[in-house]
Formats: sequence, C-alpha cells, structure tokens
Amino acid sequence: MKSNNTFRIALFPGDGIGEEITDPTRILLDEVAARVGGFGFDWEPCDAGAAYYRKHGTALPEQSIKTARAADAILLAAMGLPDVRYADGREMTPQIDIRFEYGLYAGVRPVKPVPGVRAILADPRAHDIDYVIIRESIEGLFAPIAPGTRDGDKEARETMVITRPVCEKLFDFAFRLAEERGGQKKVTSVDKANVFQAFAFWRDIFYERAKGFGGISADHAYVDAFAMTMVQKPWSIDVAVTENMFGDILSDLGAALMGGMGYAPSADIGDDHAVFQPCHGSAPDIAGKGLANPTAMILSAAMMLEWLGARHGSSEAGVAASTLRRAVEGAFGGGRLITCELGGDAGTEAVFTAVRDALARVDV
Ligand SMILES: NC(=O)c1ccc[n+]([C@@H]2O[C@H](COP(=O)([O-])OP(=O)(O)OC[C@H]3O[C@@H](n4cnc5c(N)ncnc54)[C@H](O)[C@@H]3O)[C@@H](O)[C@H]2O)c1
Repeated sequence: MKSNNTFRIALFPGDGIGEEITDPTRILLDEVAARVGGFGFDWEPCDAGAAYYRKHGTALPEQSIKTARAADAILLAAMGLPDVRYADGREMTPQIDIRFEYGLYAGVRPVKPVPGVRAILADPRAHDIDYVIIRESIEGLFAPIAPGTRDGDKEARETMVITRPVCEKLFDFAFRLAEERGGQKKVTSVDKANVFQAFAFWRDIFYERAKGFGGISADHAYVDAFAMTMVQKPWSIDVAVTENMFGDILSDLGAALMGGMGYAPSADIGDDHAVFQPCHGSAPDIAGKGLANPTAMILSAAMMLEWLGARHGSSEAGVAASTLRRAVEGAFGGGRLITCELGGDAGTEAVFTAVRDALARVDV
C-alpha cells in the first residue's frame, strides 16, 4: 500500500463481457472508498487475454505480470475466446497462468445466494445456503509441472499432481476459514480416495492437518456424492476443500444454485498475492449485448476489499467490503431486479445503477 492509504490494483478487463463489467465495478469501488473514507485506489490497467494474443502473439505480456506482481491486489474480469486457440487446440488461459505465476493455491468460491434473487431450489432452506468451496488452484489435473501429452491420433494423457507442501497450506487455509466463519465449524474433503492414489494421499494429509484445529470437525465425501449433496441438502455444507478440476466443476454447480454464473464471486489466494475474479468466463454468447450480470464481479471486488483490509490492518477497507455487499443486497432485496439469466430484463447497466443507488443509501 502506498503511504497515502492508496491501494494499487492491477486491473485486467480481459475479453468479452469482462470488458463490460470492469468499469461498473471500478466505479463502485471508487464510490465505496469515497463514502467510507480513509483510503483509495490507484488503478493500473493490464493487458491480457485472447484478443490481446490475436493482436500481439502473447496472452499475458511480461509488463502485465510485472505490474500485477507489484500491485496490492489483482482484479480480473474474464478471459478467453473459444475461437482463439493454440495450434494444439487448447485455448490460451492467462487467468489460470496468473495463479501459477503467483502461487495462488486457494481458490475461494463462496456459495451464498444474494437475498432477493429467485431461489433455484424449491426447499425454503435454500435461502439460507452459505458455504465455501476451496478449489486447489495450482496443481491437481491442471498442474503445469506435468503438462498433458498427445501422441498424434493414437492417445493423449494428463497427469494429476498432488504435493504435500501445497496440500498442507491448502488444508490449513480451509480450517482457518472454518474457524473465522464460526458457522458449523466443519471442513469436508471432497475427493475420490476410493479409486485414486493421489486422492488417498490427499486425504491422509487432510486428516493430519485437521489435528491442528481442535475446534473444527473434519469429514470427507466422494465428489460424486458431494455433487448430490450440493443439490439435496446444501445447507449441511460449511467449508469444502477439493482438487482443481473437481473445484472447477463444482463451483459452476454452486453458481447455478445462486441463480447463475453472474452471481458467483471468487478469490485465488496465495501467501503474498491474490486475484479476485468472478467464476464465470467471457460469455461470448451474450458479449456486446449489455446483458452481462456484473454482480459476481462486484462481489469479487468486495472479497478483495475484505482481503486488503485484513492484510493491511485497514478497518476502512473492511467496512467498505460490508458496505458494498449491503448495497448489492439492497439492489436485489425487493425481488424486482431480475437479471437476464433468470428471465428478467435487467442487464449490466440496470444492475450497476441499482447497486450504485443502493450504495448511496446504505449506512456506513
Ligand atoms: N476465469 C475466466 O476467465 C474463465 C472462466 C471460465 C471460462 N473462461 C473462458 O470463457 C469463454 C467462454 O466460456 P464458457 O461459455 O464455457 O463459460 P462462461 O462462464 O463464459 O459462460 C457460461 C454461461 O453462463 C453465462 N454467463 C456467464 N457469465 C455471465 C454473467 N456475468 N451474466 C450473465 N450470464 C453469464 C453465459 O452467457 C453462458 O451461457 C471460454 O473462452 C473459456 O475458456 C474463462
């Protein structure tokens, strides 16, 4: 943080709807900082993404990596365009490369519907869903140290990597989060330890680390059964920690239970850096139409404020986080703001305006 209480934020608009939801979020962050007072932001726009690759031949330029490394936090919208691919058929994924670059092992994906947004599950308890999926984010099936291989048209292989140092940090992070949340005080390992060596190893380390957190209970579930629990009795979950690929899939299921991708925020946290970004991608099907729901990005920005506040001992940033969240709840509270993904007509501008109006009204 600069000496004048200014946080330097590396801002990656990325591709598609990413560019459309970035400005509204930045404006709300500046406004909430002005309302709370005592801190502000220095915005440092960074290039990256598929469109940038198309023009310049690289998806994540060195300058952006440098700027982001020096920043207090990284705020990223969405990246990727399905038509822009490497010769081997893969898309470029700078949003994933950034996690490797800065060692962001803990992908934090809260599943907590915004009050007033139509519940997807019929059970009335669905309004009270409040849990967090921790997606391990630098190894597992995505591990860059064991890239996939392909032998022409004969076969292709991928390797899952689970290492002790990352598991230990990850599980400690999950147990600490359960302590801080003070809810059910439970962490569930979501794995497939009945079939795979890597997950049997993962689970051994999970229970080893659990011993260091006496007040928190630890249990486990196979990923297939856990997917069912997410729909059948999601209120029974508190903190769930899982492998990279499983977390990728389960967090989209969590997003669906909140109303859609446009409601699902996330943070990728490491020891020294963190990226805050919605769970969704660049949504090429709705890009340029003004239909993107910016809520996930705004809630990711609230997570950023909370993290900055805790890291820098800034009570103002912490207050700003809860103020921004209350503004989102104020916007959706009456049940009349219905986004396009839920069949309504509220697009980016309508949601932004409603949150901005609510922000002007909420008590700080
Ligand atoms: N973190 C990231 O940057 C990230 C994550 C996932 C996918 N991607 C990339 O994004 C591109 C599109 O991927 P995809 O279509 O599989 O996933 P996606 O998340 O972009 O879209 C999935 C569905 O959710 C909808 N959706 C997503 N965000 C929304 C929002 N804010 N408001 C309303 N509706 C929203 C889309 O219209 C689409 O129907 C691909 O290039 C993919 O690689 C990037």
